[in-house]
Amino acid sequence: MIRVFVPGDAAALSVGAEAVAAAIAAEAAARGIAVTFVRTGSRGLFWLEPLVEVDRPGGRVGYGPVTAAEVRSLFDAGFLDGGAHARALGRVEDIPYLARQQRVTFARCGIVDPASLADYEAHGGLKGLRAALAMDPAAIVAAVTESGLRGRGGAGFPTGIKWRTVLEAAGPRKYIVCNADEGDSGTYADRMLLEGDPFLLVEGMAIAGLAVGAGKGFVYIRSEYPHAFRRMQAAIETARAAGLLGPDILGSGRAFEMEARLGAGAYICGEETSLLESLEGRRGQIRFKPPLPAISGLFGRPTVINNLITLATVPAILADGAAAYRDVGTGRSRGTMPIQLAGNVRHGGLVERAFGLTLGEIVEEFGGGTATGRPVRAVQVGGPLGAYWPTDLFDVPFEYEAFAARGGMIGHGGIVVFDDTVDLARQARFAFQFCAIESCGKCTPCRIGAVRGAETMDKIIAGQDRDANLTLVRDLCEVMRDGSLCALGGLTPMPVVSALDHFPEDFDRPAQACAAD
Ligand SMILES: Cc1cc2nc3c(=O)[nH]c(=O)nc-3n(C[C@H](O)[C@H](O)[C@H](O)COP(=O)(O)O)c2cc1C
Ligand code: SF4
Repeated sequence: MIRVFVPGDAAALSVGAEAVAAAIAAEAAARGIAVTFVRTGSRGLFWLEPLVEVDRPGGRVGYGPVTAAEVRSLFDAGFLDGGAHARALGRVEDIPYLARQQRVTFARCGIVDPASLADYEAHGGLKGLRAALAMDPAAIVAAVTESGLRGRGGAGFPTGIKWRTVLEAAGPRKYIVCNADEGDSGTYADRMLLEGDPFLLVEGMAIAGLAVGAGKGFVYIRSEYPHAFRRMQAAIETARAAGLLGPDILGSGRAFEMEARLGAGAYICGEETSLLESLEGRRGQIRFKPPLPAISGLFGRPTVINNLITLATVPAILADGAAAYRDVGTGRSRGTMPIQLAGNVRHGGLVERAFGLTLGEIVEEFGGGTATGRPVRAVQVGGPLGAYWPTDLFDVPFEYEAFAARGGMIGHGGIVVFDDTVDLARQARFAFQFCAIESCGKCTPCRIGAVRGAETMDKIIAGQDRDANLTLVRDLCEVMRDGSLCALGGLTPMPVVSALDHFPEDFDRPAQACAAD
């Protein structure tokens, strides 16, 4: 029977994948052709979604983007035999955007049936967990340390050090918490994995549990991801029924359990201490540190809290060895990074590559420039608190230290592209406004500073006392950066100051109406 792959992930569904799958099923039935459907995750080539793939002897061939109305013509062209058609893309693995990637964490995403544990295993799944079951906790932690893996949630803290702290913390009960709140603008890597390869997270969390002696894990998934939440819940149930979770992981006599929880719908709930508050059933507000969550986290117990990509990268490290991971990358940025291209970009999607390629290579060569065809003017890297950079900085390598040295950050790997119609003064105002809306309210520099910042930006845009108000904005940024309790207030100056430094002409334009956006 011919196997046809149609993604069932939110990105593909949003552009009609369901209708395309239904049309293929109907047309196949009408023509008396037996077809097996596999609803995969997305490969992350969003401009080609819905991307339909057909199993062929030499590998899968792709057609995309396909509309339901085009399905009949696909059958007429013999697409089930790889026939020629205007939407034909050839072998999917050979599409340059994919062929030039180094997929480690996303190796199976878009390929496997995310509902099938057997498919997961057939594509190399569970090797890492089996390896971990044969190791003692300290050896697992040592492997993660040696791999050089750093947290992919934003701060880039070494994962091995965090795990060692929890391993060494005393306590009869410890927890693993997966941060899948993914609030950054232009990011979707967590969602893609939840929808496209959920057993990978189950495996990563079970390994983390074995490593630090935690018997229970929680996945905190942002409420805006209903498909991902359902997919994860189903994967947990399947894993439990298969003995991958529960009191006797794969017959080892070791126990690990996990649960998925829906987030509270606030950006601040992605911050680790606020997330823990939310998981415990309270309003998401920052906790003072110390104590670190590694010492006193969920319900006051030692807790590993990691981003989803961090945890999902661990199985490959255990399966293929720490050295294989550490040996790619650059400087202190080891391994690969799932980069997410969004905004005004021609080829938006997910690119997993070793650290070190330049920002320009990512935006121009993978992204293909802007979707509008106008010149790229700015990119914001690292979410709403990341810096706005001009194309002059496109030679900066994509890695933690190089970005920090130029006043930016790579964060969760999101890149939002803007063309030359962008107004950076309004973007700077937006940063303050975002902070004002999302502030948890616990400390004054953030709670009040963000509101005053947006007001002052309005005055600058309206041409009132520009010089004095620009000085005031810079002062305010200094106070917020140095005086805020957490990185929401502390990093809001990053987009503002980068806009001021790199795009001063936008702050010196003829007076405009106050920004009401
Ligand atoms: C305001 C704010 C929002 C954050 N949002 C997220 C998020 O959505 N996902 C995430 O993994 N980390 C987020 N973080 C970072 C977490 O606090 C924490 O550093 C991370 O979960 C640690 O995991 P890692 O070491 O694997 O990166 C956020 C931090 C701040 C200050
Ligand atoms: S910086 Fe903002 S979000 Fe962070 S603790 Fe202070 S008020 Fe809350």
